[in-house]
Amino acid sequence: MGGRTKKVAEKIASDLKSSEVVIERIKYTKKLRNFFLEEDKIMKGDLSNFKYNDLILDFEPYDLIVLGTPTYGSLPAVIFNGYIEKVKNIKGKRLILFSTCRLISIKTFRVLEAEIEKRGGKVVKKQVFKGFFKIGIRKVEKFSDELNQDFPK
Ligand SMILES: Cc1cc2nc3c(=O)[nH]c(=O)nc-3n(C[C@H](O)[C@H](O)[C@H](O)COP(=O)(O)O)c2cc1C
Repeated sequence: MGGRTKKVAEKIASDLKSSEVVIERIKYTKKLRNFFLEEDKIMKGDLSNFKYNDLILDFEPYDLIVLGTPTYGSLPAVIFNGYIEKVKNIKGKRLILFSTCRLISIKTFRVLEAEIEKRGGKVVKKQVFKGFFKIGIRKVEKFSDELNQDFPK
């Protein structure tokens, strides 16, 4: 909602040296008129204005999936509730998780990882990007370097 996770995702995508990288967002289709009112509804689980792009509902075409989420109340964004259940062909796929937060992100990975592994996916790397005011770009670059090294083309 604040754009920090998007920025990190775009930086990682632009740093990756793999031959083909696609970046897809779960879209919020309504214009945010009152951020706090909307946010309250979303936090209570109202997902009616979210749209899952078809490209992220089937993992078949991808070798490696990097999944990023902000931390809201120590948890992944509510849009992830039930998302993993909806995804096809997750079995045997390698996934990397990242989260962004201001202070601490305890349960975020635990929740996502449990769902992914239940469906036969394999979480191979996890990273929290923490920053109260802003997320340091250097840390993202270091993470991208590690990905380029650990997961070459
Ligand atoms: C409703 C709400 C709840 C949040 N809960 C937490 C939290 O539990 N721990 C934390 O460290 N940061 C928390 N944050 C801060 C966000 O995780 C952080 O700013 C994140 O980078 C936002 O990502 P975004 O800009 O992609 O929405 C919260 C922010 C909001 C708006």
